[in-house]
Amino acid sequence: MDDVNPATRSATTRVIAVVNHKGGVGKTTTAVNLGAWMALEGHRVLVVDLDPQANATTGLGVDPRRVSSNIYQILVNSAPMEDAIEPTAVRNLFCVPSTIDLAGAEIELVTAFSRELRLRKALESLEDDFEFVLIDCPPSLGLLTVNALAGATEVVVPIQCEYYALEGLGQLLKNVNLIKTNLNPELRLCGIVLTMFDGRTRLSEQVAEEVRSHFPGKVFYSVIPRSVRLSEAPSFGQPIALYDPRSKGSDAYLGLAGEVVVADASSTLVAPAPVTPPVMRWRRGAAPENAPTNDRMGLG
Ligand SMILES: Nc1ncnc2c1ncn2[C@@H]1O[C@H](COP(=O)(O)OP(=O)(O)O)[C@@H](O)[C@H]1O
Ligand SMILES: [Mg+2]
Repeated sequence: MDDVNPATRSATTRVIAVVNHKGGVGKTTTAVNLGAWMALEGHRVLVVDLDPQANATTGLGVDPRRVSSNIYQILVNSAPMEDAIEPTAVRNLFCVPSTIDLAGAEIELVTAFSRELRLRKALESLEDDFEFVLIDCPPSLGLLTVNALAGATEVVVPIQCEYYALEGLGQLLKNVNLIKTNLNPELRLCGIVLTMFDGRTRLSEQVAEEVRSHFPGKVFYSVIPRSVRLSEAPSFGQPIALYDPRSKGSDAYLGLAGEVVVADASSTLVAPAPVTPPVMRWRRGAAPENAPTNDRMGLG
């Protein structure tokens, strides 16, 4: 593995892959909204859209047809990462867009040299430009996800509070460990985030309890509620922090951002969460001063 040289990697950038091989569990919603709140809290954040569906790209208000470069160009044609970085409506928040072309990349890269390290190499070129890079992974454990895991310092796993939530999770964590052993010794599990929690159902409670008992100390305190506002926001090309900053979903992602930012980068796993994260105590209900309201965005 002489291609992997930890010394060439930025010591300050935390690269977080948002991973789950299942579709529809809240990966993209988490990458977009976690990223937006981190940025609004003053961190410089890049969201890398690694899913050919380009949902993170459009959810951040970037039109994949009107960009000069994209993640496909970076991975397949070794185009410079910096040419693909697009600004978003949130200050400090940037996006490397995806494109449907990416759907063919796994096959196009089959014969390419060090094909599993393409993203890592591209990220190294960023040096210290960003404090956080969030990678929105596709719903598979193929070569694109391997690129994300090889390039990341950490993994965040969203789990939907539904039946079969834990199904396949063992396989996913086994794969994360395989990459850690063979490609990326620094990789660690930052934490598991429970998504689409419905407080009215016993099922959501049961799933949350089950996940917490299987992974003690690894589940974030902030639980993302099932919220129509969260599912509406992408069609306006806005993170929830802009679309409806006072909603419960926005609060939850703000809380999660606080937890992820303070997660101890040296520990293998996230520390047991406090009962009430400080960030929630002082920010609950308060919109950030620099977050545009719907009025200011012209959305009434
Ligand atoms: N907390 C939530 N409440 C309601 N809808 C959600 C929530 N999180 C995600 N969704 C919706 O569920 C669908 C799948 O979420 P998404 O983040 O795209 O999952 P993934 O990226 O894992 O496929 C999307 O339509 C999204 O808007
Ligand atoms: Mg997605």
